[in-house]
Amino acid sequence: MVRIQDTLDTATLDSDSTSAAPGQDETIGQAAFDQHLDDRPQEQQASAGPSDPSVSGEVEDRFNAVNRQPDLKLVIISNRVAPFDPNKPQTGGLAAALEPVVERSGAVWIGSSETRGDGIERPLPLVPTGAGHVARLDLPAADHPGYYRGYSNSTLWPALHSLPNRMSGSEEDYGSYRRINDFIARAAFDVRDRDAFWVHDYHLLPLGADLHDLGIERPTGFFLHTPWPTPDMIECVPNHRELMKSMLKYDLLGFQTNRDLNNFLACLRTHFGLESEDGVVTTERGQIRLQKFPIGIDPEQFAAYLAADLSPAEQEKVSSLLQNFQGAKFAIGVDRLDYTKGIDKRVEAFNELLTKEPQSISLLQIAPSSRADVEEYQKYKEDVENAINHVNADHGTDEWRPIHYTNDSFSQAALARLYRAAKIGVVTPLRDGMNLVAKEYVAAQDPQDPGVLVLSKFAGAAEDFNDDEALLVDPNDPKEIADAISEAANMPLEERVKRWRSMMDKIQSYTIHDWSADYVRELDRSRVTVPADQCLHLGRGWTNEAHMPLYRNHAEALATYNEIDPTDVALNEAAYADEKKAYEALEARLMHTQRRLWDLPIPTASLSGRPEQEPGAGED
Ligand code: G6P
Repeated sequence: MVRIQDTLDTATLDSDSTSAAPGQDETIGQAAFDQHLDDRPQEQQASAGPSDPSVSGEVEDRFNAVNRQPDLKLVIISNRVAPFDPNKPQTGGLAAALEPVVERSGAVWIGSSETRGDGIERPLPLVPTGAGHVARLDLPAADHPGYYRGYSNSTLWPALHSLPNRMSGSEEDYGSYRRINDFIARAAFDVRDRDAFWVHDYHLLPLGADLHDLGIERPTGFFLHTPWPTPDMIECVPNHRELMKSMLKYDLLGFQTNRDLNNFLACLRTHFGLESEDGVVTTERGQIRLQKFPIGIDPEQFAAYLAADLSPAEQEKVSSLLQNFQGAKFAIGVDRLDYTKGIDKRVEAFNELLTKEPQSISLLQIAPSSRADVEEYQKYKEDVENAINHVNADHGTDEWRPIHYTNDSFSQAALARLYRAAKIGVVTPLRDGMNLVAKEYVAAQDPQDPGVLVLSKFAGAAEDFNDDEALLVDPNDPKEIADAISEAANMPLEERVKRWRSMMDKIQSYTIHDWSADYVRELDRSRVTVPADQCLHLGRGWTNEAHMPLYRNHAEALATYNEIDPTDVALNEAAYADEKKAYEALEARLMHTQRRLWDLPIPTASLSGRPEQEPGAGED
């Protein structure tokens, strides 16, 4: 890579006269491109996410946020692709979030198919979907278990949720993980001419680096749907240094909450000595922006779901579930059957509650099976089901069952009806990126008679909803959950309406469309906008029109200084003073960058094109 300091010297100074210029040392160059730090509006960082209408007074008709998205030809890449069928259940928040981006704004979405392949490269299987395209790849059979069941879901998933006791996996898993990432990057090469790449979730942490290694120079962004843990926790992950280094090849890293963003910054500090300034970290490759983008839902679509007809089969399923409660109050939990969701503690909470207040309230727990080939998930399913059986045996009667439990999946429209019927939404994950069920539950409520949300304080959604809105609880404390459920069940209408209104205003003020538009706008800003010949000189990653004025001022001042007859002392001094001033303006802005510039060792390309491991990285 061409370092900016080299090009500054050669581009602007044609003689060694410069080396004599006081104040001109060889650290000047890199700094020139830190300028755009200033151009990032501070408040944008702080205000990402739902606004608090009670503070801003802005409950207004929002124009269609999708239309505000820059007109970029996007490539979206994630492990799982949405089903694109409203009658099919969504699996996880990621799929639900991205479907509208592809259908409405014409993106290409690359992900895995349900079939495994032989690993041979084939043209990208693009299928038109709405305004966009979807390409489902048959990921190589040989590496898939190590990638999906192993490194992604037995190592990273529990670590990212700060549950080290759930971690397992073999040493080979990381190799499979990297090879599958490589495979996906090579498949994406077919669409290398689109404007930008937006990669999602922990399965694909190093994909941005792989895309760059293939020579794809478009802006690449990453969004993490899960939490990011503390430095100590990430240290438990094998190869964590190499992994985090590869993440620094993205131009934009997005997180759900401030907590996740701050944890990531703490990891950079602890493990690499890298500091950030105004959400920007500088490495040898350039600048990476880090920002929170709290994901939302589409409340209007949710309202439409409530009005939509269900298929006869689903209508039947919904009616028979609701019949169980015979009009009595019930709470609802809807979670993938995952140990991060705290379903076992929730069941314990019902045990507590029903001991104190027999037959006071029942629970409808919908828990579609998830990752059933991962051992921890099998164990968890057994634990949850045993606990439910105990509660039902201890507190139930022939006529009344405390917990109704199903592994069935439901469409969004069916869920909307069930949320609406439940007087309490219990969303108590041990830790969660955002948890869209919390927002969907609120969106489905009857404004005249809304239910109450009991929410884990460790769900990302708890950064959006405060104590005056949801009942925030410690998900590890069944007694606290039990008390909150009891409080919710007895809450007066007026208070319920007040809490609900406030949450609903937030949901409406920052929808899924605002989220994607914000992200894509930020990604767009990493696009190189200076002329190609200058980009060539300046290297990639730093250049952007906003960076150029200080650099140009300084370059001009130096050129003037170089042209002056050295015997003309007065002129010489004046030009030198101008040059010095321009240099100082440049330098002052960028000392921060300069100090940290080479903290990361420069990756040297191996024959395979993958950067070789730095000494010591193998110990991870
Ligand atoms: C979470 C993850 C998603 C994942 C989903 C379902 O929401 O953040 O990336 O797709 O769970 O998990 P699965 O393993 O079935 O794709």
